[in-house]
Amino acid sequence: MAKEAIVSEDMAKKFATEKETPYLRWVRDEGLDIISAHYVRNLNRVELKPWARRGGRGIYINHEASRTSNDCYVCEIPAGGQLAPHRQLFEEMIYVLDGRGSTTVWNEAGQKLSFEWGKGSLFAIPLNANHQHFNGSGKEVARFVAVTNGPAVINLYEDLNFVFNTPYDFKERFSGDPEYFANKGEQKGLLLETNFVADAINLPLISAKERGAGGGHIRFNMAKGSMNSHISQFPIGTYKKGHAHGPGAHVIIMSGEGYSLMWPEGEEPKRYDWEVGSMVVPPNLWFHQHFNTGVTPARYLAFKHEVVSIRNAQGVPKAWISRRLGGDQIDYADEAPIVRQLFTEALAKHGLEPRMAEAYQAELADLPKAS
Ligand SMILES: [Fe+2]
Repeated sequence: MAKEAIVSEDMAKKFATEKETPYLRWVRDEGLDIISAHYVRNLNRVELKPWARRGGRGIYINHEASRTSNDCYVCEIPAGGQLAPHRQLFEEMIYVLDGRGSTTVWNEAGQKLSFEWGKGSLFAIPLNANHQHFNGSGKEVARFVAVTNGPAVINLYEDLNFVFNTPYDFKERFSGDPEYFANKGEQKGLLLETNFVADAINLPLISAKERGAGGGHIRFNMAKGSMNSHISQFPIGTYKKGHAHGPGAHVIIMSGEGYSLMWPEGEEPKRYDWEVGSMVVPPNLWFHQHFNTGVTPARYLAFKHEVVSIRNAQGVPKAWISRRLGGDQIDYADEAPIVRQLFTEALAKHGLEPRMAEAYQAELADLPKAS
């Protein structure tokens, strides 16, 4: 079901006009390329093109499976420069890959706030708020990666003047509270309600044993938006449980080194090596699994969209539930032997050994019976 299912050119031609969307036409008209890949080795090195409307340089990254849910772009602000003021009737979350700078956000009511960010900062732009990004350095460029839910909105209205030029304040989302972009938030279970994290690379996490191997986890709701995101970290010599979910999770490596395996059901896992700045976007319902092979803990950020989560009747994402119960998470006890073999070999190259015995043991206590 989740295989790529490639058909003949003749059959593909019959659906070609449906593949073309207002969103894709808009990106082309912006003068930017789209990388249609589910793996980018390093977002810091990906080549950008001048972006006349925004004022910097950019590229869109939009995998086939994600293009109707959310999209992703990388943008660079020139040294000593800024982007043009901008507003949009869709949501956006931003992670700063490199450099430092500031952002000013304002509304029609005249409320205006500015905040400063640096490498590792994470924040969201409130829906339809005017905003402008400034580079704080006269010497170095600043580069960020952003995920938006623009595709659905642009496809729905097909009216760019409406999407990018509607003077309306969503007061519930942003009302100029001076603390709005303060580096603080309210922790509700695994969820942190905040609008700005100054240093997401070192943000303390909460233990989440359900995803395996002593991992830390934190979930975000930012700018009262509908898109969600989370950070996961896992210790040296460990890996997370394999799982599958819907399209649109953009996984960005914040620290550490390792690799991900990704595969459609019934096929051999493929390996995608990562370092700080790598991104993997697991295609719709492909299994995927993340492995730390480095000498430090590994941490990643996942920008998502609600369609990523396939939930059970209790509202629990099936990617957190054992396949033995009908969920989409593979227990360690059920994984293919090749998974452990590849991991042992990869660690050996760094003179390390797997530190998984405790995680395998801990799983047994709650492991549902195999059917
Ligand atoms: Fe995932």
